Amino acid sequence: MKKIIITGGSRGIGKGILHKLIKNKYYVINLSKNKKEFVKNKMLSNYKCDISNLKETTKVFNKIYVNHGDFYGLINNAGINPSRNNIVKTSFKDFDATLKTNVYGAFNCTKEFLKKKEIKKNSGVVINISSIVSVISHEKRASYSISKSAINGLTRSIVADYSNQKIRSFSICPGYVETDLTRNFLNNLDNFEKRNLIKKHKIGRLGNTKDIADLVSFLLDETKSSWMNGNIIPLDGGYVC
Ligand SMILES: NC(=O)c1ccc[n+]([C@@H]2O[C@H](COP(=O)([O-])OP(=O)(O)OC[C@H]3O[C@@H](n4cnc5c(N)ncnc54)[C@H](OP(=O)(O)O)[C@@H]3O)[C@@H](O)[C@H]2O)c1
Repeated sequence: MKKIIITGGSRGIGKGILHKLIKNKYYVINLSKNKKEFVKNKMLSNYKCDISNLKETTKVFNKIYVNHGDFYGLINNAGINPSRNNIVKTSFKDFDATLKTNVYGAFNCTKEFLKKKEIKKNSGVVINISSIVSVISHEKRASYSISKSAINGLTRSIVADYSNQKIRSFSICPGYVETDLTRNFLNNLDNFEKRNLIKKHKIGRLGNTKDIADLVSFLLDETKSSWMNGNIIPLDGGYVC
């Protein structure tokens, strides 16, 4: 039985991925900021971990390795977007918070994951949940798009240094999916703006958590995607095309 660590599996996209992985018979370890027993399953363990706190994250990873042994995959999914602003209007506080969770958190989880992989010398996958704003410009997303571009650099760096150990890595770059992260923004759009946003996803709808979970599941499966590696994949109904 393969084991996967996911961050931010308690809500939204992460929760959708987590359910799909359990269905696919992976054992899942979820790390999220506020531990909630949101679902009980013998194939799931939840750990409270604020990944923006690097010391805490390292401690939790050490505990996980003691409790569960070796892991096949890591999904860096937890992310925040506290500021929808241009550069001048973005406060250092929001910029710092965004980078601490979206970049430093993902970097540290990856470091802890790869440390063990270097010892075990077995294959694996790291999937980084990025965003369309990492590959196209988007107004009023300064800190968020900077953080998501950095995540694509994380993917490339893993590929450059760990492919020879059969560790593959990907960035998935979703378009808009309605979750707690986007709900206020979407609810505040008027009908015209909402229609326009939907139209930008050329297939004619926003995404859902299943869209993301299905791709994650494919990329984790060595029997289906073993020649794929290092791809920065827009998953957006054609938004960035
Ligand atoms: N929704 C979209 O349209 C969209 C589009 C493109 C990319 N994305 C990306 O997809 C990922 C998931 O987004 P979402 O929409 O599902 O967000 P969400 O509904 O707001 O869920 C965020 C998740 O991340 C966890 N989290 C946040 N900060 C954390 C921290 N410091 N330490 C540990 N866990 C933390 C939360 O845990 P708690 O429940 O404990 O707070 C929660 O599980 C993010 O990286 C986001 O940038 C989303």
